[in-house]
Amino acid sequence: MCGIVGYLGEKDAFPILINGLKRLEYRGYDSSGIALLNGTLDVFKKKGKVAELENFVLGQKYGGNIGIGHTRWATHGEPSDENAHPHNSMNGIFTVVHNGIIENYSSLKEDLVKQSYVFQSETDTEVLANLIEFFYEQDSEINAESAVQLALSKVVGAYGIAVLCKNEKNKIIAARKGSPLVIGIGNGEYYIASDASPIAEFTSQVVYLNDEDIAIIQKDGFTLKNVRNNPVSLKLSNLDLDVGKLDKGEFEHFMLKEIYEQPKTIEETFRGRLKSDYSEIVLGGLLNVFPKVLEAQRIIIIGCGTSWHAALIGEYLIEEYAQVSVEVEYASEFRYRKPVLGKNDVVILISQSGETADTLAALHLAKEKGATVIGICNVVGSTLARETEAGVYTHAGLEIGVASTKAFTAQVTVLTMFALKLARAKETIELDEYQALLQELSTIPEKGRIILQNNEKIKLIAEKYKDVINALYLGRGILFPVALEGALKLKEISYIHAEGYAAGEMKHGPIALVDDNLPVIVVAPRDEYYEKIVSNIQEVKARKGNVIAIVTEGDKRLIELANDCIEIPNSHPVFAPLLAVIPLQLLAYHIALLRGCDVDQPRNLAKSVTVE
Ligand code: AGP
Repeated sequence: MCGIVGYLGEKDAFPILINGLKRLEYRGYDSSGIALLNGTLDVFKKKGKVAELENFVLGQKYGGNIGIGHTRWATHGEPSDENAHPHNSMNGIFTVVHNGIIENYSSLKEDLVKQSYVFQSETDTEVLANLIEFFYEQDSEINAESAVQLALSKVVGAYGIAVLCKNEKNKIIAARKGSPLVIGIGNGEYYIASDASPIAEFTSQVVYLNDEDIAIIQKDGFTLKNVRNNPVSLKLSNLDLDVGKLDKGEFEHFMLKEIYEQPKTIEETFRGRLKSDYSEIVLGGLLNVFPKVLEAQRIIIIGCGTSWHAALIGEYLIEEYAQVSVEVEYASEFRYRKPVLGKNDVVILISQSGETADTLAALHLAKEKGATVIGICNVVGSTLARETEAGVYTHAGLEIGVASTKAFTAQVTVLTMFALKLARAKETIELDEYQALLQELSTIPEKGRIILQNNEKIKLIAEKYKDVINALYLGRGILFPVALEGALKLKEISYIHAEGYAAGEMKHGPIALVDDNLPVIVVAPRDEYYEKIVSNIQEVKARKGNVIAIVTEGDKRLIELANDCIEIPNSHPVFAPLLAVIPLQLLAYHIALLRGCDVDQPRNLAKSVTVE
């Protein structure tokens, strides 16, 4: 949540910062701001999206080769010009942009108020700016980085920060704990960002900051120390991000583009991992831990939101095929429980961003308890990817739409391969069934393309239901998590209240909601639950509910019974989640669009939830 950018070099900083903020806008978009160091320290900030800040600054005098910027997702204080970052310290010596939460900000603030500090905003960040200034003014020998280090040593909480000091004109200080920061190293210039997307077009040489690192960036070099004032050595990484993929192309929204990319991204996920004769799945990132996975009595899969839904699908697949007991946990719950966990357990953490605060806290807990930890992650070089001992990248490419789509199908593809690989190694699946499934996996992208041809039809269905207040999504077995995912997509981008339910649970409560205003979206392809789900549909129809069914192509019975049907190609049930979710994503997209909602940047949300 919140995006940070910074630039120090010979170029005009403003366009680099504004474009960087646009790239990071998916992380938060309620206000934004920029500070430029150019003899003076000039701060420009505005409530609203980055485009509003851009217009605001362009109407004024500005300039400088050093600057920092921020796009905000509000934690402390409502979205407003005053609460927007950067925040100046009281005497204007420092300005700070911050991503994270300073948990002890109120006690720090009380102490500063006793020292006659006055505050302009409601934010925790302004407290940090003043604390840095307080230490700086205590002693004329103290430089800006020492003041930052002393202030951070008092802070409890999470931060990614970039700091400018009016008196030290060739310097940016950046630090992280819990919130990501990456520094790009160019030719006599440096870039700072919350993720690599604003940096990739300028350089491929980056340094990912680790927790408690403080970077002192100057024109003639860049050094690292930590919050305890000890030097830290630099570890250079190579960035491999295709900036060409960062725009919407022919699509109106990133979400639609990402939905349409799925046939390709599913293919990318299994590409190079299936042997050409389908005799083996190669997951190179798991080599060193696979013996432990084979011995594990229990696998625990952890994630949040959409990643948690993928985890539930993983549970069905691993239990059915590899016959290993699986538990699925919300990271936010797991981290605060006292889970019984030990070195014989395997913990799989799933995250698109690899920066979700709760998932990272769950990772740290699992490591502390001695479990074998595996990451399934999309963002290369993210904290999750760097802190897990083994893992599998999903290779879905950068996902910008806040509502996750292609990352989900890529996660499910990885989990499908993981379950089948484990099953084969445990000999709980015969070779011919295994090979047949791998062969079918290679046909799923084409089936996805066929589903996308239903887009116009789905748009017409969306027209019919765009004004509803509630919606119910039902599925059974491995398609129950798909119902949950369909409901999440609808609620997060259209603001319609939607619930996902296991269809068998409908009679235990949700059936009371059914009337002629309620659309019930039922995931009902032909599988072992087919007759049961047809009965559920009958029950909804008997109460005048409107059924939108996702059915196997040519299913005349449901085409007649349901109010609306979206057909998907026939597939083995293992692959049904990958296919059935696509029409649900499109339905949510079109309903949200027809309601005039901001599909890519829905209200109150941010792409990476880097605070609790
Ligand atoms: C998905 O549409 C959501 N925006 C959200 O639930 C997301 O999946 C969740 O925050 C987890 O993010 P992660 O995969 O990056 O950890």
